[in-house]
Amino acid sequence: MNSRALQESKKPLLVAVTGASGAVYALKFLELMREQGQEVHMVMSEAAVQVCSLELGEDGLQRLLRLSARTYDVSRFDSSPASGSSRWRAMVIIPCSMGTLGAVVHGISLNLIHRAADCFLKEQRPLVAVVRETPLNPIHLRNLLKFSQAGGVVFPAMPAFYSRPSDLDEMVSFFVGRLAEFLGFEVKGLPVWQGID
Ligand SMILES: Cc1cc2nc3c(=O)[nH]c(=O)nc-3n(C[C@H](O)[C@H](O)[C@H](O)COP(=O)(O)O)c2cc1C
Repeated sequence: MNSRALQESKKPLLVAVTGASGAVYALKFLELMREQGQEVHMVMSEAAVQVCSLELGEDGLQRLLRLSARTYDVSRFDSSPASGSSRWRAMVIIPCSMGTLGAVVHGISLNLIHRAADCFLKEQRPLVAVVRETPLNPIHLRNLLKFSQAGGVVFPAMPAFYSRPSDLDEMVSFFVGRLAEFLGFEVKGLPVWQGID
C-alpha cells in the first residue's frame, strides 16, 4: 500500500442509509467493514429507520446502529459530514432511494445525506450509491446518468448468481464483498471468476 492509500485507509467511511428496500445490504456491509477494521460513521434518513425496522426488525436495526462508531442526526447540518472540509475515506449510500438520488443530482440539500453527498461531489471525493428500485422510469434513468456524470458511482443493488449462492446470506455477502473490493478493501474468501472450465 502506498503512503497516500495508507493515509486514506485511516479515515472513517461515511455510510448513509436511506428508505429504499434492502436494509440487509447496509447491515452486511457494516459487518464486513467491522471485520476489515474500518471505522464507519452513519447517517440514516427517517424513511430508512422505518424500512430497517420493517425489514430487519428492531434487533436488526439496533445491531446496525451498534456497528457504527458514530451516528449523525439526519436533520443536523452542523455536524461534520455537512462540510467539505471534513475528511472521509469515501461515502456510500446503501441502499439509495430514488428520492435521495433525485435530491443529490439536483443539488437540493434537504437533509444531511443530501448535503454530505453534495460535498463529496464538489470536493471530487469517492461517492457510491447502491441504488434500488424497479422498474425504473425515465426520471430515475436520467438521474442515474446525471449522478454518474457528476462523479458519483452507480453501484446498483443487483445480486449476482454466477457464484451460485445457496441462500440470501451468501448472495448479500457476495454483493457487499464486491462493493468492498471496489472501494479498495481486500476481502478474503470472495469467489473470483476463473472461467467456466
Ligand atoms: C417498505 C418500503 C420499501 C421501499 N422501497 C423503496 C425502494 O426500493 N426504492 C425507492 O426508491 N424507494 C423505496 N421506498 C420509498 C422511500 O422510502 C421513499 O421514497 C422515501 O421518501 C425515501 O426517503 P429517503 O430517500 O430520505 O430515505 C420504500 C418505502 C417503503 C415503506
